[in-house]
Amino acid sequence: MSTHIAAQPGQIAPRVLLPGDPLRARWIAENFLEGAECYSEVRGMLGFTGTFRGERVSVQGTGMGQPSASIYVNELIKDYDAQQLVRVGSCGALSEQLRVRDVVIAQAAATDSSMNTLRFQGYHFPPTATFALLRNAVEVAERAQVRHMVGTVFSSDSFYHSRAELTANVVDYGVLAVEMEAAEIYTLAARHGRQALGVMTVSDHIVTGEETTAQEREQTFGDMVTVALEAMLA
Ligand code: HPA
Repeated sequence: MSTHIAAQPGQIAPRVLLPGDPLRARWIAENFLEGAECYSEVRGMLGFTGTFRGERVSVQGTGMGQPSASIYVNELIKDYDAQQLVRVGSCGALSEQLRVRDVVIAQAAATDSSMNTLRFQGYHFPPTATFALLRNAVEVAERAQVRHMVGTVFSSDSFYHSRAELTANVVDYGVLAVEMEAAEIYTLAARHGRQALGVMTVSDHIVTGEETTAQEREQTFGDMVTVALEAMLA
């Protein structure tokens, strides 16, 4: 096992979905994967491996925020040799063109986190999705007629923001939505030569105040998971 994941070598597939919420990891395993087995319950951060269309896929909870996601993605890469890392989860919409339940496919991730500030010192690295995964996800979403937008997200260290701060630094620069993990996942994938993507469902609209019910979230999160799984296998 690694420090925070209890799997034996080989128990985690090269393709890994990364929801923040460990209970959503279980929901994905139970509803989308065949023969899924739980390989880790350390700190309640559940991980499962099963098959999707005959291919092995794992789903590992990451917790909220880049420091937590970084722990799991570091170990998935270094200790379990994960090759494709696809975040699935929720985001808060910033673009007025987005509605709740839309899917955001994150081409790039801006961030206010100190993680890359410390890593790159005076340099500024642009965390970007892997083009092949991005293209696959867009094609799947178009074919399945899933309402979606492709663009930059803001990976924030804070969930609770002042509207003025978001507007001045993010919304005015065309950023579509705010979430909390993509920038670190993209950066680690770049550092280790792995593939990464983030596919997020709009759970609430920061500008209009629109929100989803738990039942609506479940349905539309299904569209997002299907886009993510099919993008990995395409
Ligand atoms: N901030 C960060 N992450 C989120 C939000 C938010 O407002 N909504 C859903 N995920």
